[in-house]
Amino acid sequence: MIMKDNTWRKRRLPIPRKTSELIALIALSSTLFLFLYTSDLHSRLREMEVRLQPGDEEGFSASQLSSEEPTSTDMDFESSGVVQYYSDINRKLTESYVNTNVPDIEALNNTRKADKAVIFFNRVPKVGSETFAELLRRLSTSNEFHFNRDLPQKYEFVFLAKQDEFELAKSIANIPEPSVFIKHVCFTNFTEFNLPEPIYMNLVRDPVERIISWYYYIRAPWYLLARRQMFPDLPLPDPQWLKKDFESCVLEGDMECQYIQGDIANGISDHRRQTLFFCGHQQECLPFNTVGVLERAKMTVEKNYAVVGILEDLNTTLTVLEKYIPRFFQGALNMYWDQVNSFSNINRNPLKPATSEKVKDILRRNFTKEIEFYQFCQQRLYKQFRALRLTN
Ligand SMILES: *[C@@H]1O[C@H](CO)[C@@H](O)[C@H](O)[C@H]1NC(C)=O
Ligand SMILES: *[C@@H]1O[C@H](CO)[C@@H](O)[C@H](O)[C@H]1NC(C)=O
Ligand SMILES: *[C@@H]1O[C@H](CO)[C@@H](O)[C@H](O)[C@H]1NC(C)=O
Ligand SMILES: *[C@@H]1O[C@H](CO)[C@@H](O)[C@H](O)[C@H]1NC(C)=O
Repeated sequence: MIMKDNTWRKRRLPIPRKTSELIALIALSSTLFLFLYTSDLHSRLREMEVRLQPGDEEGFSASQLSSEEPTSTDMDFESSGVVQYYSDINRKLTESYVNTNVPDIEALNNTRKADKAVIFFNRVPKVGSETFAELLRRLSTSNEFHFNRDLPQKYEFVFLAKQDEFELAKSIANIPEPSVFIKHVCFTNFTEFNLPEPIYMNLVRDPVERIISWYYYIRAPWYLLARRQMFPDLPLPDPQWLKKDFESCVLEGDMECQYIQGDIANGISDHRRQTLFFCGHQQECLPFNTVGVLERAKMTVEKNYAVVGILEDLNTTLTVLEKYIPRFFQGALNMYWDQVNSFSNINRNPLKPATSEKVKDILRRNFTKEIEFYQFCQQRLYKQFRALRLTN
């Protein structure tokens, strides 16, 4: 260091006094210029902040469904700037479409595209779909439609060969109108078989919560008992497997809890992919957490699904279902809350232990595309909700 300093000093050329004064002057004026420039930028930034504040009318979030008064967080939100804008994930999700003005309600209504008054609810497991099946069964009496649902299967085949897909589509196309048909199965493209399109609906859930729910569900004693009564020849589970908790399963690198990008499983008892139910029965739909599958699933939701609800927000889900598929869902919100006690225990697993945020974060790092898909569905649901322009 000292060596270097010395050599530098030695080589330094003597600068005349005049020149150094000139340099000082240039430095001073550029500082002044920069100061003026940044202060201009600053005021322009402030202007932009003000414009970024969402309008009152559009800012209608799901949690406000039942309350007319804005909550205190709403007030904070109105009075502060950009930072606050990003602080509340829910507000962000509901309001990120503010700049696109009022969503086009017709473009968001795929019910209009259906050729038949038949709902095809290709239900994703562990998203509250049992509750929704039961709700639809009760609605079938008041709204007068036929109710058809799948029976428990020994092995749930959701990913079908072309011929089986065709048979399924034919059988749905042949049921009398109006009807609802419910089954755990991947998205089935009726147009491909020249069959009339049904009204597609489904539900999704936070992918990490869902995978934990599945893990404990298949270990629950009541689930195992019911399975054994239905299928006595099923092998008994290993007690070690039953005792294993999800946290250690993840932390110890157990194969059951390894979620590797691009992994392909055969679709039997593999429930890591919510996107599979929206992508379809093609081989390209299998690789876990990949961009191709994500994009296909998003496109199918956008083009085909009338409504994809969110387990975490039942009120918005039920309201959107009522308004976009009224023939089947009118009165659903009231029916649900009037009979909530008889719904809230359906398939609930009281034995599920808590999972730490640390372990959830480990999973979130591997479920990025699944999470993106979930957020996409959430945004679309809120967009459909806002398009209704409900007041109060
Ligand atoms: C959902 O709606 C019901 C009935 O209107 C209401 O009692 C409940 O508080 C609402 N829940 C939320 C989270 O807004
Ligand atoms: C369904 O099939 C039709 C006809 O082959 C095709 O045009 C359409 O893109 C398919 N839709 C999806 C979501 O794959
Ligand atoms: C997450 O993915 C990485 C990279 O593929 C892998 O090494 C790791 O074991 C995975 N973790 C879990 C819990 O699946
Ligand atoms: C969507 O379309 C269906 C079928 O045409 C109609 O019954 C329903 O009222 C529409 N919903 C909205 C919100 O436009």
